[in-house]
Amino acid sequence: MSDARFRLYMALSLDGMIADADGGVDWLNRWDDVDFGTKRFTAEIDTLIMGRTTYDQVRGFGAWPYAGKRVAVLTSRPLGPAPKGVEGTSDLPGLVAELREDGARVWIVGGAATAAACIAVGAVDTVELFLMPVLLGQGCRCLPRTARRCPWRCVRPGRGRTGWSG
Ligand SMILES: NC(=O)c1ccc[n+]([C@@H]2O[C@H](COP(=O)([O-])OP(=O)(O)OC[C@H]3O[C@@H](n4cnc5c(N)ncnc54)[C@H](OP(=O)(O)O)[C@@H]3O)[C@@H](O)[C@H]2O)c1
Repeated sequence: MSDARFRLYMALSLDGMIADADGGVDWLNRWDDVDFGTKRFTAEIDTLIMGRTTYDQVRGFGAWPYAGKRVAVLTSRPLGPAPKGVEGTSDLPGLVAELREDGARVWIVGGAATAAACIAVGAVDTVELFLMPVLLGQGCRCLPRTARRCPWRCVRPGRGRTGWSG
């Protein structure tokens, strides 16, 4: 199991997008049957941090896929009725401090704004990216151009996957 506690773990296109121009991720469906180790990864984490846009999108997909996990949704607005284990917060530094104190194992799900916010508060221990062989041309960039310089070092390049650690 990875020693890292806060893991930014995302799939992106060859041209650096995490979503297409409509915010969609159905371009990832091509690899639904490929085992990238996601099941093992999700078994290793107990807590997810995701942005409100991503949360609303996942809710729209149907059944909640993260039952049994704590999910913190970054948002400045009330969440409304939410699945068990889901909470909204606008206090990212407070959340990170609490989770570090608890020794939580955290998946930083994204999207881009959330990844950037987590990097900005120094919450990203590792970056694990699945570089998918597709060009989207347009869409949501993995990280805004303004993300601060973070010289992670490469720890475990794997099948379709690149990993960096702080
Ligand atoms: N390929 C992948 O692996 C992957 C993974 C995740 C998401 N995605 C894609 O990413 C896209 C969404 O990314 P996104 O960057 O637009 O949105 P996002 O990060 O999912 O959510 C952005 C929202 O989160 C809230 N937020 C973010 N940082 C905050 C902070 N520090 N404090 C308080 N609230 C904060 C704000 O919500 P309020 O408006 O409530 O303030 C903000 O509008 C979707 O299209 C999704 O499909 C792809």
